[in-house]
Amino acid sequence: MSNAVFTRVLEINEVASTSAEAKRLCKEVSGQNLAVWTRKQTQGRGQVGASWFTGDEKDIALSCVFYPGSFPVQKQFLLNMVVCNAVFNYVKSNVNKEVSIKWPNDILIGQKKVCGILIENVLRGAAIDHSVIGIGVNVNSKIFPGELAHATSIAIENFAFIGSQRSETLDLIDHLGKHLEEFYQPILNEVLIRENYLKHLFGLNKELSFLRGEQEFKGTITGVDDSGKLKMLVNGEEVLFGFKEIQFLYL
Ligand code: BTN
Repeated sequence: MSNAVFTRVLEINEVASTSAEAKRLCKEVSGQNLAVWTRKQTQGRGQVGASWFTGDEKDIALSCVFYPGSFPVQKQFLLNMVVCNAVFNYVKSNVNKEVSIKWPNDILIGQKKVCGILIENVLRGAAIDHSVIGIGVNVNSKIFPGELAHATSIAIENFAFIGSQRSETLDLIDHLGKHLEEFYQPILNEVLIRENYLKHLFGLNKELSFLRGEQEFKGTITGVDDSGKLKMLVNGEEVLFGFKEIQFLYL
């Protein structure tokens, strides 16, 4: 199965990391969008060098190589928002609970993480040549390694859920293809993309507790700037935070 964006979909029995494999494959056939998924991912990679757990034959481990057509690097956060919007829609279509996007790119059900996204952009000058978009979704796992106290899955949150690893992966590829197609339209609807992202952003306009280094503080998220920094009101002043500069407390 494929769609207009991902005309090549590769299914692999077992691999260390679909993202590493996607990078290897796109060197062989460059210029073509590609989706790679596996039944068993043995060394999944998460943000900032962390590892990522995928239940064998249960959960989604998918990496897509996407060529956005010489897209300016200053706008890379738009790609992040489009991917989040697509994955949000996929999760939401399977769960009748509150689903949200935790800045910059986690998907939560309630306050628990159901999906992690790792986007690695390969630049050509000042443009994105291609992106390797790695997505892990907890679909059917019900037990997680001890350190993942804040993890959940679609099957945990929806008792009536029935979906195989394969059918769910293909459904997610479909959602992604439909959203990423926007990059090939004459005009990218940046306003709508941002609106959709903000509509589902966890904690928007609510006062929450955060950690910066050792210091705890309260702030109200008001949006994201063009570079993807989080905008927050702290003690009545607008402050911008980059990725990994702060942590959400109690999440
Ligand atoms: C995160 O830490 O939140 C991001 C996790 C990304 C995991 C996915 S699973 C498919 C792809 N292959 C990898 O090795 N990592 C990504």
